[in-house]
Parts: sequence; structure tokens; C-alpha cells
Amino acid sequence: MNRFKKSVFLKETATMQQQFAEKRAAMPEGTNKVLDRRSLETDNKNLLKYLNSGSSVLDVGCGSGAITRGIAGRAGKVTGIDTSESLIALARKNYGDISNLEFQVADIHTFDTTERYDIITAARVLQWLSDPKEALRKLKPLLKEGGVLAILDYNHEKIQWHPALPVEMQKFYDAFLQWRKDAGFDNAIADNLSQLFAKLNFKDINLEVQFELTQKRDADFASKAGIWSEVAKTRGNQLVKDKYITEEERLAAIAAYDSWIANEGQLMQMYLLAVEAK
Ligand SMILES: C[S@@+](CC[C@H](N)C(=O)[O-])C[C@H]1O[C@@H](n2cnc3c(N)ncnc32)[C@H](O)[C@@H]1O
Repeated sequence: MNRFKKSVFLKETATMQQQFAEKRAAMPEGTNKVLDRRSLETDNKNLLKYLNSGSSVLDVGCGSGAITRGIAGRAGKVTGIDTSESLIALARKNYGDISNLEFQVADIHTFDTTERYDIITAARVLQWLSDPKEALRKLKPLLKEGGVLAILDYNHEKIQWHPALPVEMQKFYDAFLQWRKDAGFDNAIADNLSQLFAKLNFKDINLEVQFELTQKRDADFASKAGIWSEVAKTRGNQLVKDKYITEEERLAAIAAYDSWIANEGQLMQMYLLAVEAK
């Protein structure tokens, strides 16, 4: 294969990989239940130190807009973008009357605008991209001089449950991570962000631990720890369709995990980092 043919082949392969990943990342129906419970103050609080009434903000992968609405309460002009038409429709329905806030259906890979932002944020989004470095490269020129890129994301390999998960849910979780990995998603993205920022010559890289801890004594333990029941009820259907688990295994995981939450479950901690840079 000559050099030209090889480069065309590599480009086509990358595009196919991205299309496959985007199909797998598409938010299944019902996920807004988890997203709607979030707020700026509890679930993206790393942004608070940057926001003021003059800031222009782009929220990439804004979902149903629950966090974006909070940003608009503390900033100037705010735009939320997301690939999901149904989540953007919900965001517009719920928060469409806020005058300094707009929502657009758009993909991080192709989003283009003449606007430049003081703050660009992407919370829990890069975990769903097969080439997160390329996404960061796309966002960099959209920042104003001195503007901040603030990424918040997980290392799913470092989640903790105490006591250990029931085997049925552990099996589901292992299958979920494998299903993600096979689509090219980085299960440990949180711990790789600083390096990606450095490779793209971002400056003043700041890393903050934002672990999401929920314990039995918390009033919302069942709903917070229950995120994995929700994942099994929604994403789990894709895992069954893609033959990573059977339907029986999916249902068994939900039942065993709900029982763990109601009985022996004491603690769940999701490993979440905020990495920000100029
Ligand atoms: C886990 S949700 C996070 C939503 C919200 N930022 C939060 O923290 O609650 C990830 C969101 O990223 C969106 N998303 C995934 N890939 C995207 C892309 N290529 N461009 C824009 N949004 C994307 C999904 O549709 C989904 O709404």
C-alpha cells in the first residue's frame, strides 16, 4: 500500500471507529433520571471558582441541562450543546425561559462557532469519546485568551463499594467496562487527562479530587448508589443486544444490587477528577 492509500485507509478506519463509538455512546431512554438529579453546586462544583456575572460559558455534553441551568445562574451568556436531540428537547422544555441560556444539538467533533468562551466545561463526557485528545484539540481554539477548559471525569476502574458487590452485579459491571473498552472508551480517563492537556500544550494545569461518596447514613444513599441499577436498566439493554451479558444476567444484577443497597451496602465511591487548564 502506498503512502497516500495508507493515509486514506487510516482516516477511514478512524472515522468508522468514531461512528461505532458514537452509536454505543448514544444515551439510552431513561438516563435523564440520573442527569436531572444533578446540580452545579453538588455535581460540578469545581466550576464555582471561575464563574462570575460576566463569564461566557460553553457546556459540552450538557445532557438535560440540570447543571447548565446552575451555571447560567452565576454566569453571563451560557450555551449548552449535546448530541442527543431528546435531551436537548428536555433541556429547552425545562430551562428554555432562562434568558442568558441557550441549548443546541451539536457534536463536540464538528461544533463550530465564531463565539469565544471564558470557560468551556465538559462533565462526564470524555468518558464516552473514542478519541478524547482530538476533542480537547477541537475545544482549545474556542477559548478566549486566558480562558479555562474544565473537564470532569471518572476512572471507572477505581470505583469502590463496601462491602464487595454481589457477584451478579460484579459480573454486570465487568461486562460494562469491557463493552466500553471494546468501543475505544478510556475507562481510566480521569487519570489520563493531565497528560492529554500537557501534550496539547495547555498551561496552568490544575487537578482536583471530586470523588462522589455516598454512605448508608446519607438520606440519598439508595438513589446515589442506585445509579448502577439505572445503568443496568438502561445501558444494560445495549449490553444484552451486543451479547456481553444475557437478559437473565442483567435482571439478576439489578435484583442483587437493589438488595445490596437495601441491606448490607455501606458505601459507594466513584473516582471523579476535575482537570482544568488554560
Ligand atoms: C454522562 S452524560 C453527562 C451530562 C452532564 N454533563 C452531567 O454531568 O450530568 C454525557 C453527555 O454527553 C453527551 N455526548 C456524548 N458524546 C458527545 C459528543 N460527541 N458531543 C456532544 N455531546 C456528547 C451525551 O449525549 C450525554 O448527554
